[in-house]
Amino acid sequence: MATVEIIRITGGEKLEGEVSVSGGKNAALAIVPAALLARDCCVIENLPQIEDVHVMTDMLRALGAKVTHEGHTMHIDPTGVDKFQAPYDLARKMRASYYLVPVLMGLFGRAEVPMPGGCDIGARPIDYSIRGWEQLGAEVSTERGWISVKAEHLRGSDVSLDFPSVGATVNIMLTAVLAEGNTTIFNAAKEPHIVDLANFLGSLGAWIKGAGTDVIRIRGGRKLHGSTYTVVPDQIETGTLMIAAAATGGDVVIRDAIPYHMEALSAKLLEMGVHVTDDEDLIHVKGAPSYRSINVRTQVYPGFPTDLQQPMTTLLTTAKGTSMITETIYESRFRFVDELRRMGAKVKVIDRVAVVEGAERLTGAPVNATDLRAGSAMLVAGLMADGVTDISGVQFIRRGYENIEKKLLSLGAKIETELREKD
Ligand code: EPZ
Repeated sequence: MATVEIIRITGGEKLEGEVSVSGGKNAALAIVPAALLARDCCVIENLPQIEDVHVMTDMLRALGAKVTHEGHTMHIDPTGVDKFQAPYDLARKMRASYYLVPVLMGLFGRAEVPMPGGCDIGARPIDYSIRGWEQLGAEVSTERGWISVKAEHLRGSDVSLDFPSVGATVNIMLTAVLAEGNTTIFNAAKEPHIVDLANFLGSLGAWIKGAGTDVIRIRGGRKLHGSTYTVVPDQIETGTLMIAAAATGGDVVIRDAIPYHMEALSAKLLEMGVHVTDDEDLIHVKGAPSYRSINVRTQVYPGFPTDLQQPMTTLLTTAKGTSMITETIYESRFRFVDELRRMGAKVKVIDRVAVVEGAERLTGAPVNATDLRAGSAMLVAGLMADGVTDISGVQFIRRGYENIEKKLLSLGAKIETELREKD
């Protein structure tokens, strides 16, 4: 009999205590494939045991690399990589698999990688990456679900992005480090994981300047050696835990975080009436009995992260008054609101704007996570609701949150996982 995993939360408990954040998913998904560009082994620390990292690891093994991932430490030996075609069934599971295109193109002069998968939150084209690869000398075709590239000779060039796309910035950086000559990326993404990737590539011997600003300069063509590198903490997990602490009126210290990465969220929580203070590598969130409604507009970094929009919208469902959340990054990242309505949320969605009228309280209900960050929204909703919430679609949550039930349990949440027979 087929079974399905359910997370059951009995809401109303204040989260209290200390919790440590895991390593960054989106940093890991760029750094792990990049390690194949080195001529010898890499050791990568602080890598979370999450599904997306496991899929990326399986892809590297399928290409011939030797990879072990014990605890939070990964050893990658790239010397056995002998294939330029990534496995279809694995690659289509997530968005980041297309980072293998520049890596395999750099190693073999050609690459065949399935069109990426990823959360169903919008069209998510890859045109900026394709244009970047072509500007650096590659011939690109996308037929029958595959991205096929050929590059006799990759040459550095100036690349100006229409939009500071994270994926395109990663793909152009990974292409440029092996191309002959210099590349400058204008209007580059500035997210923490872009800086982390640049620092990692630098540790391999690459010449990269300006990551974290709009202009990244790369001098390509250097031989890259192995290194030992520690990945940054997960900005979005940090934010999700901050929001969960606020949502339960709790008192939580989040350790091993980088407060600087959280400025946009902290500012919005303070505006609502949440107490947020920080120190070196910790953030202290103290909730309050009620919150002011506010307006939120997702932006590229350092603006309010789109990946925190869904848990934040959930928090705002019981703020006093009317809040407006504008999602500027994706065209359909409000599908989860249908599930919040089951719990009594009063939300109207018009195009890219959600208008949230503060309800007295959410009430527990069976809900379904439709994507990774919708899953985090359902966790927050279950924690703040009156009664029991059963969350399905747990496989999405597993993609990006390491041991999230254990972390919430340690903070006093009433949360358990059970396997149910599929009806
Ligand atoms: C990365 O996706 C993250 N994924 C996403 O996190 C995150 O939401 C996003 O960056 C924005 O921060 C990974 O890092 C693996 P983009 P990515 O290219 O690279 C459009 C999560 O929950 N666009 O900055 O795909 C695109 O459609 C995931 O961890 C084009 O039009 O983001 C989107 O509307 C979800 N053409 C916007 O730009 C392109 O060629 C932002 O995309 C590329 C993007």
